[in-house]
Parts: sequence; C-alpha cells; structure tokens
Amino acid sequence: MGSVPATSSRLLQGQLHLLCGFIAGFVCSFVLLLCVYDVHNPPCWPSSTLPATAVTLKLNQQRPNLALGLQRQLRILCMVLTCPDYIERYAQHVRATWGQRCTKLVFVSSEHNESLGVVRVIEPEADAYDNLWNKTREGFRHVYETYGGQYDWFIKADDDTYVIMENLRYMLAAYDPNMPIYFGYKMNRYNVSYMSGGASYILSREALRRFRRQAYESSKICPEAKKNGIEDFYMGICLQNVGVHLIDARYALTNDIKTKLFPLDVAKYMYDVNITIPDWLRLMTATEIETGPGCCSNYSIAFHYTTPERMYLYEFLIYRLRVFGVARHLEEVPKPFTWAQVEKMFPLEHNTMIRDLTQMLERPDNF
Ligand SMILES: *[C@@H]1O[C@H](CO)[C@@H](O)[C@H](O)[C@H]1NC(C)=O
Ligand SMILES: *[C@@H]1O[C@H](CO)[C@@H](O)[C@H](O)[C@H]1NC(C)=O
Ligand SMILES: *[C@@H]1O[C@H](CO)[C@@H](O)[C@H](O)[C@H]1NC(C)=O
Ligand SMILES: *[C@@H]1O[C@H](CO)[C@@H](O)[C@H](O)[C@H]1NC(C)=O
Ligand SMILES: *[C@@H]1O[C@H](CO)[C@@H](O)[C@H](O)[C@H]1NC(C)=O
Repeated sequence: MGSVPATSSRLLQGQLHLLCGFIAGFVCSFVLLLCVYDVHNPPCWPSSTLPATAVTLKLNQQRPNLALGLQRQLRILCMVLTCPDYIERYAQHVRATWGQRCTKLVFVSSEHNESLGVVRVIEPEADAYDNLWNKTREGFRHVYETYGGQYDWFIKADDDTYVIMENLRYMLAAYDPNMPIYFGYKMNRYNVSYMSGGASYILSREALRRFRRQAYESSKICPEAKKNGIEDFYMGICLQNVGVHLIDARYALTNDIKTKLFPLDVAKYMYDVNITIPDWLRLMTATEIETGPGCCSNYSIAFHYTTPERMYLYEFLIYRLRVFGVARHLEEVPKPFTWAQVEKMFPLEHNTMIRDLTQMLERPDNF
C-alpha cells in the first residue's frame, strides 16, 4: 500500500496543473464567447493569435495520464479460461483486444500452445464444461506456483468476457493486494454468498495465497475436484473459509454504487423493462437489479457473453470513438482504504453452514 499515497500526490500535482489549464481555458473561451455574441465590440485579439485552439492543445498536453500511472502501479494477471475448440473462436480475440492491457495474460486450457500463451492445466480428456471447477482450481494453482508474488491482483475471466482494464485498476487502486479480499458481482445460493463467475472475479495476492496454501487441499473447507462442480459458488466457499472478505464491486468505491461487473450481456440492462433480466438472476443477486439509464456504473468493468465481433465493437466505442466538442471532467485516483475501513465496510459473513462441508445441510447434490 506504501506506494499508493506517493503516486496519488504526484497525480494530484498533475491535476492541479490540469485544473489551472481548465480555468484558463474556461476564461479564454468565455471571453471568446463574448466576442462572438457581441459583434459590435472591437475584436478581443488581433486575428493572428488564435487563442482558443492554442488553449485546447495545451490542455491535452497537460492532462496527466492517470490510466498509465495505474497501469505501472497495479500489476494484474488475467487468467482466462478457455478450451482447445475456443482458442480460435474466442481466446485469440481476447488476446487481440482487452487482453493486451493485462500486465500478464494467461489462458488456461487442456492443451498447451506456447505461441498463444495457452497453458494446459487439466487433462485433454477431462476438458468439458462439467469440469469447470477443476480447471479453475488447477488454473489458480498454476498461476500461484508460476507467478505467485509477481502480480498484485488476479482476475479470472471467461473467453467470452470483455474487461475494461483501466476501470478495473481504478477500483483496485483503493485497496491493498496484501489484504485478503476478492471482488465481483455478489450472488447468493443455498444461503452462501459468492461472486458470479461469468461476470469475472478478482482475487488479491493474499486471497490467492490463502486459496492455494490453506483451502486447495482441504476438502473439509473447499470442495475437491469433481464433475459438475459449481465453480463460482465453490470458490466463494473456499475463500470465505480462509478468511477472505467478499467485496461486492458495486460498493467498492463509495462515490459510485452502481453495478460494475455484468453476468449477462450488458445490452440487457439498457432498456427499462424487467423482462430482459431473468428471475433466477434477480433471486440470486445480493441487491436490486436496475435497468435503464441508471443501470450501470460509468466506470463499469466487465461484460459477460461478449461475442468476438462485439469485442472489436467495444474497442472502437471505448477507446477510439469521440464525440466532438464535449469536454471531459476531472478525474482522481481513489484514496486507499485502510484495513480497518475495509473490514468495517465488508465484514466476514461468518457463515457457519460452510465451515465443514461434510456437515453442510442445504447443498448441491454432488457435494
Ligand atoms: C497453436 O495454435 C495455433 C493457432 O490455432 C496453431 O497454428 C499452432 O500450430 C499451435 N501450436 C501448437 C504448438 O500447438
Ligand atoms: C483435476 O485435474 C488434475 C490436473 O490435471 C488431475 O490430476 C485430476 O485428476 C483432476 N480431477 C478430476 C476429478 O478430474
Ligand atoms: C455518470 O455519467 C453521467 C453522464 O455524464 C452523469 O450525469 C452521472 O452523474 C454520472 N454518474 C456518476 C455516479 O458519476
Ligand atoms: C421491475 O421489477 C421490480 C421488482 O419485481 C419492480 O419493483 C419494478 O417496478 C419493475 N420495473 C418495471 C419498469 O417494471
Ligand atoms: C444465512 O446465512 C447467514 C450468514 O451468512 C445467517 O446469519 C443466516 O442465519 C442464514 N440463514 C439460514 C436460513 O440458514
């Protein structure tokens, strides 16, 4: 956490410059407006100085690149689950789009392909959807053993999820990777809280360490590898049983309490009609689901069920498309929370039902 405040103050300095730029720009454009509207007055400047353009250029040069600052500071490993049949159809498009913005991108599958960054973590004959739990377990084991302390945060995403890495870093910047925490879209099943797998979830370095060192091998507190395991639900049990706090991404930043990770196609949230959100999701989601204009955080992070075609569309809409003449507002890197604050905001749920899985009463059939 130590390096966060130092950088914040550096960024703050940059922002002060920016603020001055803005004020200067505002004053100049105001004066310019007066000239335009009051044609009877003499011109404010000789026609050769072109003040408005000059100010705009200067502003752009002075804008500190906060995203770049956070990219250097927060090392994020993206673990993307895929399978041999989906390498061409999905994984390569993740690599060509948002995957480039991960500090490290690792595809976990049942076949090795070094040139594509695909690692085999389970046996080829065991690679089917019903083995998703084993693939996730083994994927995290591989990532911990190969990269352990080299990265701060570990996001698990599917090959049909689109992630806006800058917004992920923005949220995580308020936290310390040495805290035992994991973020996601919070759900509830059999009265157990967990983070939706399709929407993608994020483990801190400490959460990953605890998963591997304390949970992975104990079938009493963490379901062992088995067919038809419910990957995200199981992960929630394993992590809570080793004292990892669940942070509903929706509430991770106090100034923005809208959904940030989406278990469904984000387009389904855009109309203000309930019919686009299935009942099962409403029942299992920890909080009310909003649709329409208020649905989604302006700093949304992840969208599930994204076809490759849409990944390229999002790249264009998010990173290239501009709307002419619309000024952008000032932004700040969030102040880091202390551990005392995090514990208070996101207390452990102390769910005694999951303490000993052999004794768990309400549970899936194949537990
Ligand atoms: C890796 O995948 C690419 C694209 O599917 C393929 O052309 C290549 O032969 C694969 N390499 C190995 C070592 O399997
Ligand atoms: C899970 O994957 C590991 C690594 O491939 C393998 O050794 C183990 O047998 C698998 N377990 C099941 C139940 O598929
Ligand atoms: C999100 O953006 C809209 C449009 O710029 C703005 O009106 C709204 O206040 C923003 N929401 C938050 C929480 O900042
Ligand atoms: C959507 O459903 C919720 C809960 O069922 C209800 O409170 C809300 O009024 C509905 N909204 C619309 C636009 O139908
Ligand atoms: C559900 O879990 C919470 C803790 O997470 C517990 O307080 C509550 O009693 C549980 N409810 C049932 C019906 O088991």
